[in-house]
Amino acid sequence: MTSSRKHINARSLRIFRKVALLTVLTVYLVILAGGIVRSTGAGMGCPDWPKCFGSWVPPTEESQLPLNYKEIYGKKLKGEVVFNATKTWIEYVNRLLGVLTGFMIFLTFVASFPFRHTSYRLLFYLSFLAFVLVGIQGWLGSKVVSFELLPSMVTLHMLLAILIVFVLLYLLLASYAEQLTSLFPKGNMRLNRLILINLGFSLIQLIMGTQVREEMDHVIARLGYLARFEWIENLNFLFYVHRSFSILILVVGFILFYQVYRQKASPQLVRKLVAINLLIIVLEIATGVSMAYFGVPAFSQPIHLLMSILLMGVQFIVWVVVNAEWLFKKWTSPKYLQSVIP
Ligand code: HEM
Repeated sequence: MTSSRKHINARSLRIFRKVALLTVLTVYLVILAGGIVRSTGAGMGCPDWPKCFGSWVPPTEESQLPLNYKEIYGKKLKGEVVFNATKTWIEYVNRLLGVLTGFMIFLTFVASFPFRHTSYRLLFYLSFLAFVLVGIQGWLGSKVVSFELLPSMVTLHMLLAILIVFVLLYLLLASYAEQLTSLFPKGNMRLNRLILINLGFSLIQLIMGTQVREEMDHVIARLGYLARFEWIENLNFLFYVHRSFSILILVVGFILFYQVYRQKASPQLVRKLVAINLLIIVLEIATGVSMAYFGVPAFSQPIHLLMSILLMGVQFIVWVVVNAEWLFKKWTSPKYLQSVIP
């Protein structure tokens, strides 16, 4: 260890890792919660904002509401308001998780303070970026609603969610820079190409998926929540492209898995990651199939959404690990450390 490396306090690094990991988990939880809100139709469970039925902790029974609550809130819901405690609480928990996410990302930023004058200072700048991106995401979310779910807005919202996940994962991995740079000291061109193809295809699939979901929302609005078994047949051709494109992702995922397991020198971490990648692809296809052929069961919609972002996350981790040598070389090279730290 060089003398300048000592500037990075081991305790601060441990704290940062824990906070960053918790933040990533919270973001995934909020994505799952958002999916559950949509699949259960609980979006209007709270007719007002930021309070819910006029209070910070929503009611659990209709008797706790004013007698004329339908008049008070009916206007916002175009005359339709029937209190449903389950939907109200699903939406309420979703909002709490949203607040928690903002708080956790801020905490990550605070935990990055000790690194701002060290060779790990990128942790500080990227944590700040994550914080700004979450602010933009919140603003975009409100625009998605006010633009009545304009397809490009929904897609942009989704892409920004992925960018936030990527920045947070990068932060987490970067805090292990020293350990990761030794895994692929000379890189690995073939793996790198495969993982980039897998990532690129998954991204295309995800964008297509949001368009299918968009179409689905229109179909649901037309046919109603009870006609679940008719939703799929009313989707346009993009659904069929989306369905078939998953075969390509499965094939690339399998080749990646095969390549990693074939090479004896493959690090254990990468072996695990490519196996998880393949497993998620299979589960993602399984939830897709359950929607397509079993009347879109409500549980499969949020799982399908969550899995798609988990998939991108795992593939991004593999990419960072394979490229860690050049991504983090500067951070850990004694020469660089001496030049940046007084
Ligand atoms: C690797 C494979 C796949 C990926 C990454 C993927 C990804 C996605 C994504 C990101 C969405 C948007 C979810 C949302 O915004 O709530 C979506 C929607 C959808 N996907 Fe997939 N998908 C895959 C495979 C499949 C397959 C094989 C099928 C059908 C056989 C399928 C059927 C659907 C349907 C029906 C929707 C609309 C869901 C909804 O409205 O909640 N997907 N997909």
